Amino acid sequence: MDDVTDTVFRQIVTSCAAPDLYFTEFINADGLQSPGRPKLFKKLRFTTAEQPLIAQIWGKEPDNFFKTAQQLADGTLAREMKLPDGIKFAGVDLNMGCPQKNEVKNGTCAALMNDRPLAEQIIKATQEGLAGRLPLSIKTRLGFSQVDYTWIEFLLAKKLSMLSVHGRTKAQKSRVPADWDAIGKVRELRDQMSPETLIIGNGDVIDRQDGLRLADKYKLDGIMIGRGVFHDPFVFAEQTPWPQFSAEQRISLYKKHVELFANTWKNRERPVQTLNKFCKIYINGFDGAKELRERFMDATSIDELITILEANEK
Ligand SMILES: Cc1cc2nc3c(=O)[nH]c(=O)nc-3n(C[C@H](O)[C@H](O)[C@H](O)COP(=O)(O)O)c2cc1C
Repeated sequence: MDDVTDTVFRQIVTSCAAPDLYFTEFINADGLQSPGRPKLFKKLRFTTAEQPLIAQIWGKEPDNFFKTAQQLADGTLAREMKLPDGIKFAGVDLNMGCPQKNEVKNGTCAALMNDRPLAEQIIKATQEGLAGRLPLSIKTRLGFSQVDYTWIEFLLAKKLSMLSVHGRTKAQKSRVPADWDAIGKVRELRDQMSPETLIIGNGDVIDRQDGLRLADKYKLDGIMIGRGVFHDPFVFAEQTPWPQFSAEQRISLYKKHVELFANTWKNRERPVQTLNKFCKIYINGFDGAKELRERFMDATSIDELITILEANEK
């Protein structure tokens, strides 16, 4: 999730309960192939703890997808970012589902559902850039204005390694419940058209058990959980201890996040205010949480945050 699941948060979630597969935030391939390239490295950074990790990219120009795929597959980007030796992305994912206004207006992400010639060129360019060295997957929605299985068929014809489907249309944004029956239909189409493509269902899954139930019901290969982490950092656990976590334990987990953030983004690649959106995850569910959160929100430096955390830790 953009501006959420960076290396810091992925490491925290891993320390609670690791998923089987990780995705980066979406990263603009056109930006990566422009002079602004180094600014995007913060979205690609990762450690050996968060593996296997798939790099998700989006953009407009097929040639930039080609180059980005090539540089992800041959290790150029990892070397340029000075990632630890031997660390490798596990695959490349194309975002063809984000419904945000700017992206769609620009003809990217979900807009590609309505521009299949460009979608085709982007997929082909990425496949050529990868040259079989890394698997290619796509993340999409059920359609643009309405559920559109011709879009799913179009994607399944590309013989992808994996297709992740968020069970809503672009027009629905997040306003209606995810349509899991339609995700089940996608899996049936997969069985007929491209049995080797893994199908991942996504939308409103609240925890691992809920995900396993849906995977079983619709015979899916996997489940993607997004916003569930906002309610429980142990969302991938077989049995979450989160409801029993004391105030002290919650504050101490937030402290771990803040310290890792400070150690990771030493050059202020991400502003301290980024931490506000995480505060609510941890500083929640105990007496006085709201008042404490307000104090964290007002803090303007890491030192200030740590001082408040230490004063409240025990
Ligand atoms: C803050 C936020 C950022 C997101 N960023 C991305 C992104 O970068 N790439 C992506 O494929 N989906 C992104 N999504 C969509 C989620 O991956 C997911 O498809 C959606 O939230 C529905 O699943 P959920 O109910 O499990 O959250 C984002 C969602 C949110 C709320």
